[in-house]
Amino acid sequence: MANLVVIGGQWGDEGKGKVVDLLSPAFSYAARFNGGNNAGHTVRFADLHFALHLVPSGITNASCKCVMGPGMVIDPVALRTEVDGLEDRGVAVRSRLTVSSRAHLILPAHRALDAAREGSKGDARIGTTGRGIGPAYETRAMRIGVRFGLTRNPRRFREAVAALNTEVDRLLTLYPDAPAPTTEQVEEAIDAALSLSPLVGDTSRLLQDAIDADRHILFEGAQGTFLDVDHGTYPFVTSSGCLAGYAAPSSGLPARVVDGVLAVLKAYTTRVGGGPFPTELTDATGEHLRSRGNEIGTTTGRSRRTGWFDGVAARDAVRWNGVDGIALTKLDVLDELATIKVATAYRLDGETLDHVPDDDLEVAELVPVYEELPGWQEETSGITAFDKLPARAQEFVARIEALLGVPAVMISTGPRREETILRREPPFSRWFPSE
Ligand code: IMP
Repeated sequence: MANLVVIGGQWGDEGKGKVVDLLSPAFSYAARFNGGNNAGHTVRFADLHFALHLVPSGITNASCKCVMGPGMVIDPVALRTEVDGLEDRGVAVRSRLTVSSRAHLILPAHRALDAAREGSKGDARIGTTGRGIGPAYETRAMRIGVRFGLTRNPRRFREAVAALNTEVDRLLTLYPDAPAPTTEQVEEAIDAALSLSPLVGDTSRLLQDAIDADRHILFEGAQGTFLDVDHGTYPFVTSSGCLAGYAAPSSGLPARVVDGVLAVLKAYTTRVGGGPFPTELTDATGEHLRSRGNEIGTTTGRSRRTGWFDGVAARDAVRWNGVDGIALTKLDVLDELATIKVATAYRLDGETLDHVPDDDLEVAELVPVYEELPGWQEETSGITAFDKLPARAQEFVARIEALLGVPAVMISTGPRREETILRREPPFSRWFPSE
């Protein structure tokens, strides 16, 4: 077996799309297992630029088939738009994509509830992407959700949508100012879902059969470790499990099918939306990271908050996910800085902490203990060999490896597929494209 999980080790937006795109030639399937169109994965190759929200990033590789698993929540209008958009640009999707019959639909009612809740919270709002993600997972847990498989029976499907709308309408009465979805919006969603019905299948069986035939699966995590509903900075989190451990069960597979975990981490940190962020920079350096790193959300167009690399949080991410190696992205964004800081511990009420506390108010009070490293102040954009990096950039990478106890097997020096350093260490060498 040679199945790999790629997850985000921070607060999302680490560059997973590029990493999956680069690795996908070694895999027969790319499978997403959590979240929905709150994700935004950017992939660039040749002259093309893809922003994917639902379809796995492996779709850019013609030999890779794609699966959207049972752990996902899927907005049918958004999916149809994305599928049609990719096909218009020459990417074959309908022949290569299977959507789990067990995945839940996001309907206009979910988006209305998401907006109503956020609107009522004022400054305490989570800063969700507004895509109805939380309410869709809520109705799944309430056992009133609508699963994609029902589209195979349009009459039952319509009844389930109507029943769900009745329940959500009741919840919406708690927010008298919130606009309810229009009939046109509901009909558009029904129409989109029914039109996607030919893509629906038993993805668990599909992936198990592939594994039995010795084919390799790349599990593609969305969001990031600190947005995980249990281990993230709760309640400022998304509503799904983002850790590598979810990949197998959220795909309907036994845990033992996973052979390796690659965490993607930026060489600094970003966060979009509300919630505590210990190493956040609100000064000119933070602004520099934002502009040089083009830190604008792919999904919502919001500016991302920026900060130094948080070695404490990253170490927790390595432990929780069972990380074997990291992909360190956007190293080139640090090129101009004279000094680079890395958090190695936190201080809280006179105590030193080596982990992220479970209480968001405590996380908000943390004072990072920084180690200062000299910047390299040389251009690294596009460098593809580790020994071609300036010595100080090599030292920065080595320091992160030492802090986390795992190797940086991939280092990204630009947005394009080619702008990557691959360090061919086992077990990752077997998944890397040939030289
Ligand atoms: P939701 O997932 O839309 O409910 O949003 C919950 C929190 O997760 C908000 O802070 C969002 O900004 C954040 N979030 C959700 N998806 C992503 C992502 O793909 N990248 C970065 N942040 C995300």
